[in-house]
This record gives sequence, structure tokens and C-alpha cells, in this order.
Amino acid sequence: NTIGVIFDLDGVIVDTAKYHYLAWKKLADTLSFEFTEAHNELLKGVSRVRSLEILLNIGNVSISEEKKQAFLTSKNEDYLGYIQKMNADEILPGVHDLLGKLDRAGIKYALGSASKNAPLILKQVGLLERFEAIVDGNDVTKAKPDPEVFLIAAKKLNLSSEKCIVFEDAIAGIEAANKANMVSVGIGDKDTLSEADFNFNDLTEIPDNFIEELIKETENIE
Ligand code: G6P
Ligand code: MG
Repeated sequence: NTIGVIFDLDGVIVDTAKYHYLAWKKLADTLSFEFTEAHNELLKGVSRVRSLEILLNIGNVSISEEKKQAFLTSKNEDYLGYIQKMNADEILPGVHDLLGKLDRAGIKYALGSASKNAPLILKQVGLLERFEAIVDGNDVTKAKPDPEVFLIAAKKLNLSSEKCIVFEDAIAGIEAANKANMVSVGIGDKDTLSEADFNFNDLTEIPDNFIEELIKETENIE
């Protein structure tokens, strides 16, 4: 009778949001429209294809399907340029402590990310072997806010949804966790992530007894 944890990747384990932003911004520059960090918030947790659609909408640009494919490819190539330079220094504060605590408590954790680059990023920062399961953009047909990615992760952890805690930095991700009936923990701005069950600015703020308390709370759930 235990719980499991599902981590989003971008913005929770590593700060790749800044690289996504730079790569999308470059595309917006090419198309001569402004793309701000506030705009970028809408792209967090959202699949690559959907991100492009949102971006083109912001710029009021309509283009052919062919052109879209070309943009998706070039955006990802730019993004990979940043990823290939990543190392363990880019793991966000509090990650090592929390993973260590979970390891010692025997609590399993999975990754639930919309990114098709998730395994590569985990490998770059040396965390690939730590996760019990990895569910990423290659495994899902429906992107967040659909709960699919988290439901697959729960299945791989062999746990019911109610026993899973999701750490997320994106509005779409919190929505997905809530839809999956999981405990949602928002990492980042509290007002942006107001739908979350719990909010912290980053993983260092998580109280020592947080996981223990959740175990107690979920004990009565079958
Ligand atoms: C994450 C990020 C999104 C990104 C998506 C797809 O969820 O938060 O900003 O668009 O993954 O990433 P990918 O690496 O497949 O382009
Ligand atoms: Mg994220």
C-alpha cells in the first residue's frame, strides 16, 4: 500500500523551457512577429505540433501543411543544439534531494512528459536510469491536458490514479493530472497554477514530511 510519483520533465527536473522559448522565438523572428515569455507560458506542457499551431495563431500566420512540417523540423534542430550541450549542472534545485528521499522510502517514480526528446535530455543530465518508467511524447496519442500520459505512467508503476502524485510546471499538465484523479503539485507561479492541489515555487520548498503526509492521506484508498 504505497504511492508513486510522476514527474514532468521540462520545468520540473530541468529548465529546458528557456531553450524551447529561444527556438520558438527564432521561428517567430523569421516570420516577423513578436513572441514574448508570456506567450511562451501557453506552450508549456503542450506537444510540439500543438505548440506550433498556438505560435502561428499568435502571429496571425497561416501556412501550408508542408511549411509546417519544415518549421517543426527546424525548430527541433535548433532546440537539439541546446540540448546537446546540457549536463548534470542543469538539474533544477531540489531534484537530487527529492529523488534521494523517494529512493530511501522505496517510492517509485516515473516520468510523464510531452517531449519526444525526454530520454535524450535525461541521458544528458545523467538521470535516465533513475526512473522506474518513462512515458514521453512518443508514447501518447493525446497531448496534455489529456490525462493519457499520466494514466500510462500509473499503469507502468502498477498503481491506481489516486495513489499517484504529479509534479508539474504547466497549466496543461496540472489539468491533465486533475483529470486523471491524481494529486497535482504545481511547481512555479502559484497564480498561474491555481488549479493545483498544492503549490511550491520549486522542489526545494517541499516540506520534509510532504510525502509521508500524502501516504497517510491515501492509505484509505484501495
Ligand atoms: C514539454 C514542454 C513543451 C514542449 C513539449 C514537446 O511538455 O513543456 O514546451 O513543446 O514538451 O517537446 P518536444 O521536445 O517533443 O518538442
Ligand atoms: Mg513542464
